[in-house]
Amino acid sequence: MTSMKSNSKGVAVVTGSTQGIGHGIAIRLAGDSYDIVINDLESKKDNLEEVKKEITANFPERRVLTVLGDVTIEEDVKGLIESAVKEFGSLNVFVANAGICKPRSLIETTSNDFESVLAVNVKGTFYSYKYAAQQMIAQGEGGRIVGASSLAGKKGRSTYAVIPSCMFAVRGLTQCAAIELGCNGITVNAYAPGAIQTPMLTGLVESADYDEFKRLSSVGDLGTTQDISSLVSFLVTPEAHFITGQTISIDGGIFFD
Ligand SMILES: NC(=O)c1ccc[n+]([C@@H]2O[C@H](COP(=O)([O-])OP(=O)(O)OC[C@H]3O[C@@H](n4cnc5c(N)ncnc54)[C@H](O)[C@@H]3O)[C@@H](O)[C@H]2O)c1
Repeated sequence: MTSMKSNSKGVAVVTGSTQGIGHGIAIRLAGDSYDIVINDLESKKDNLEEVKKEITANFPERRVLTVLGDVTIEEDVKGLIESAVKEFGSLNVFVANAGICKPRSLIETTSNDFESVLAVNVKGTFYSYKYAAQQMIAQGEGGRIVGASSLAGKKGRSTYAVIPSCMFAVRGLTQCAAIELGCNGITVNAYAPGAIQTPMLTGLVESADYDEFKRLSSVGDLGTTQDISSLVSFLVTPEAHFITGQTISIDGGIFFD
C-alpha cells in the first residue's frame, strides 16, 4: 500500500473513464481531493495513461491508479476493487459509469445487440454495485455508490429498444441496493442524463440531429460532462447522506418524474 497523501477525502473508482462522462467525473473527483482509480478496456490502455497524466498534471497532490478491465467480467471487477484497496488502502466511492449504446428499433435489434448492452450496462453495474458494497461493508465506514442510467431509463423511445430495457434495470438495481445497504451507511444513486456531448453521442447522431435534442430540452441545449460530474460530486459528499435509491434526471428538463 502506498502512503496516504495529504488532504485526501478517500478513494474513488470510476469505470469507463478514458473519455466522456467517466473522464469528466474522474477529473472532478480528483479536484474534490479524492485519490482516483481509473478503469477502461484493454484496448484503451494508452488513453487511460493519458488521463492519468492529465490528472497528475492538474492535481499533483492526488494519487492515480490505472486498472485495465472489462466490467462484464466478474473477475475484472473484483480485481479492480482489490487493486484499489491494495494500492490506496480503502474504497470510499465507486462510480459504475461504463456503458455502451446500440440505437436500434425493436425489430432491428439483434440478439448480439441485446446481449452486449445487457452485459455492459446491467451485468457490469451489478458486479460493480455488488463488489463495491462488499468492500465498503467490510470497511464499516459507509460509502457512496453511483451508477449510470439515462433519460432512456425513464421513458421508452422507438429508436432505442434495448437501451431503455437496460437503463430501467439500472434504476431497479439502484433502488434495491439502496434499500439493502442503507443500514451500512452506504448510499446508492444513479444519474439519468439526457443528451450529453460525449464521444458516445457523436457516434450516435449527426450534428444536425442535435437540434432535435435541443428542442426537446426545456433549456434549449445539450448537456456537458461537467453537468454530470457536478451532480456526482455532490452525491458522494457526507451532506448527501439522505439521498439514496434515486435515479436523478439531468437532462435540461425533458423528463419530469
Ligand atoms: N452521452 C450521453 O448522452 C448519455 C446519455 C445517457 C446515458 N449515458 C450513459 O453514461 C455513461 C457514460 O456515457 P458516455 O457518453 O461518456 O459514453 P462514452 O462511449 O463516451 O464512454 C464510455 C466509456 O466506457 C468504456 N467502456 C465500454 N465498455 C466497457 C467495459 N465493458 N468495461 C470497461 N469500460 C467500458 C468505453 O471504452 C468508454 O471509455 C454510459 O453508461 C452511458 O450509457 C450517456
